[in-house]
Amino acid sequence: MSDLVTSSVQSGPPPETAAATTPAAATTTSQDRQVGSMIAVRGLVKRIGQQDILRGVDLDVTRGETLAIIGRSGGGKSVLLKHLVGLMKPNAGQIWVEGQNIIALNERQLAMIRPKIGILFQGAALFDSMTVEENIAFPLREAGERDPKVLREKVRQMLETMELEGQEEKMPVNLSGGMKKRVGLARAIVRRPSCILYDEPTSGLDPVVSDSINRLIRRLQQRFGVTSIVVTHDMKSAFDVANHIAYLHEGLIYFNGTPGELQQTSDPILQDFLLGRSEEQR
Ligand SMILES: Nc1ncnc2c1ncn2[C@@H]1O[C@H](COP(=O)(O)OP(=O)(O)OP(=O)(O)O)[C@@H](O)[C@H]1O
Ligand SMILES: [Mg+2]
Repeated sequence: MSDLVTSSVQSGPPPETAAATTPAAATTTSQDRQVGSMIAVRGLVKRIGQQDILRGVDLDVTRGETLAIIGRSGGGKSVLLKHLVGLMKPNAGQIWVEGQNIIALNERQLAMIRPKIGILFQGAALFDSMTVEENIAFPLREAGERDPKVLREKVRQMLETMELEGQEEKMPVNLSGGMKKRVGLARAIVRRPSCILYDEPTSGLDPVVSDSINRLIRRLQQRFGVTSIVVTHDMKSAFDVANHIAYLHEGLIYFNGTPGELQQTSDPILQDFLLGRSEEQR
């Protein structure tokens, strides 16, 4: 991969800031607590049909940190991410992005916030009728960039970063799963958002490509100070990239702590998840 990922990557995530490690005091108000957070979520409730997916999620993501969200399949991780960019509306609760409460915003106001946040959807979600180049250029066009030279050069740089040089003209149907994911990631970061949400960035990828994606996530954090949320089943990836790891369990954040704290936990529910153990095996 290009210099964006290969040059002088430090091992492990950077030291945490005091703000990232200090839990909010119980007496502070919601307004106080969201100060300093890039993203703050309070009491998020989402019911779909008869299912209570999110039952009161509280979460803070400090500027510049990488938070991994782990949890059982079908537990609501993707639903939670979609709320953060306004693609889903909650039944109750609040979400602040850079101090702005996004729940009350209309589509036009949301469109102003969205460029700050890049999202890599689970399964990449490319536009099937567009080439790789058109897919990656899409957010730039949406932002009003029309100069074909500028578009071509930015797409070329992104493809180089993702080790996909020369794939501009391919259609998504002709890409492997890993390639699709990297094109999706290129599209998510082409406008250099200050916050990136990754939904399963390494699932379905071989260990070498997974490792380069993890290094890219760290590199974006270290070089550009990007704030990230990484939803993942891949515990190696979570421990590799995250400053904090949150475990979403039965619609609530059951645990939120450092990778070291999670590693040392004796909580049976967390241990079951970490060891891939079903309850009957305990
Ligand atoms: N648009 C929707 N309509 C109806 N149900 C939905 C919708 N989106 C999600 N759900 C349901 O919400 C629950 C949580 O789904 P979600 O995709 O967030 O899980 P997840 O934690 O991301 O799982 P995975 O790890 O498998 O990706 C599931 O039961 C799912 O079927
Ligand atoms: Mg999901």
